[in-house]
Amino acid sequence: MTEFFTAEVPSNIAFVKYWGKLDKKLQWPANDSLSMTLNHAKTITSARVIPNQSDNGQDIITKEGKVLVRGQAGADKAYNHLAFLREQLGFSAALDIHTKNTFPSECGIASSASGLGALTLSAVAAWTNSSTLDDLQLKGQTLAALSALARMGSGSACRSFLGGYVEWKAGETPTTQEVQQVGSQSQWELADLILIVSKEKKSVSSTEAHETAWSSPLFRPRLAGIKERLHAVRQAINTKNLPALGQAIEADAIEMHAVMMTSNPPARYMTNDSESVLSWVRTERSIGAFDAWFTMDAGPNVHIICSKENATKYAEKIKTKFPDFDLLIDSTGSGPVLFRGIRT
Ligand code: DP6
Repeated sequence: MTEFFTAEVPSNIAFVKYWGKLDKKLQWPANDSLSMTLNHAKTITSARVIPNQSDNGQDIITKEGKVLVRGQAGADKAYNHLAFLREQLGFSAALDIHTKNTFPSECGIASSASGLGALTLSAVAAWTNSSTLDDLQLKGQTLAALSALARMGSGSACRSFLGGYVEWKAGETPTTQEVQQVGSQSQWELADLILIVSKEKKSVSSTEAHETAWSSPLFRPRLAGIKERLHAVRQAINTKNLPALGQAIEADAIEMHAVMMTSNPPARYMTNDSESVLSWVRTERSIGAFDAWFTMDAGPNVHIICSKENATKYAEKIKTKFPDFDLLIDSTGSGPVLFRGIRT
């Protein structure tokens, strides 16, 4: 029997969003982006080489106990990414993969960043027989290289390879893209209170919607202001200035949704429920009772960012106001882990 190698890769929430691509095939984003790595929302993926297979053996991916069949939602993306990794790295063995999320899979929280990240890390660990990140590095598979491979599966996955606050720089060319940590978990721990206003699967995937960004009249003005916003966010992280951070992340989220809504065809992820949460956050803040700011990804759920000290108190307040919605409580995380074996 061959051994399993398990990767736990966190999700991340973007403070300055990656929206729009310069080159889809090379996964070259239109702008630099910056996110906070999460602590609890993770994908846990175990991979092992399937023994005694010919070179043309088939990979088998089992998600939460069910074998993924090509053609099913998310299945092709995962199988194609494995094929891409195999070709890039020159491995031949087929893999037996078991994956699950620590967050409810139908809760509308994007799992592509953690999912494609954990798939990449566990597969490379299984092919190279590596049980730690140091081990992988010794074999030439640095975190930077793994992050670049994961990016080809899903852009936002590349930011999940480091902890704390992570910037993905688009670079001058597609091959000079890089990710770097701009603040650590220990430097500043924030809470992310994720209000699940809808569990429905989105009708337009973010990969599809990225393509329409260029058709929005608001997209180029957005790109023109990104450097300044990134500077403000980096500065806010360095000085632990939550109001400055909050102001920038709210502006960025609203701007991305405005681009989506003014694209051709338009994509509208924000629902009336999301809007009531946003205006409630603003009202509470304006009356001085709530030091919290929102952001949203390509979906209707709302992430409310506040200090870790205020998390429990604010979570109660949110639950009282919105008793029908689930609330996930997360915080700044330290990045991925890898180990030999499988955790049951
Ligand atoms: C709105 O990484 O899901 O979450 O590269 O096509 O897989 P693909 O797109 P994806 O886009 C995520 C966009 C976002 C903002 C962000 O995470 O920066």
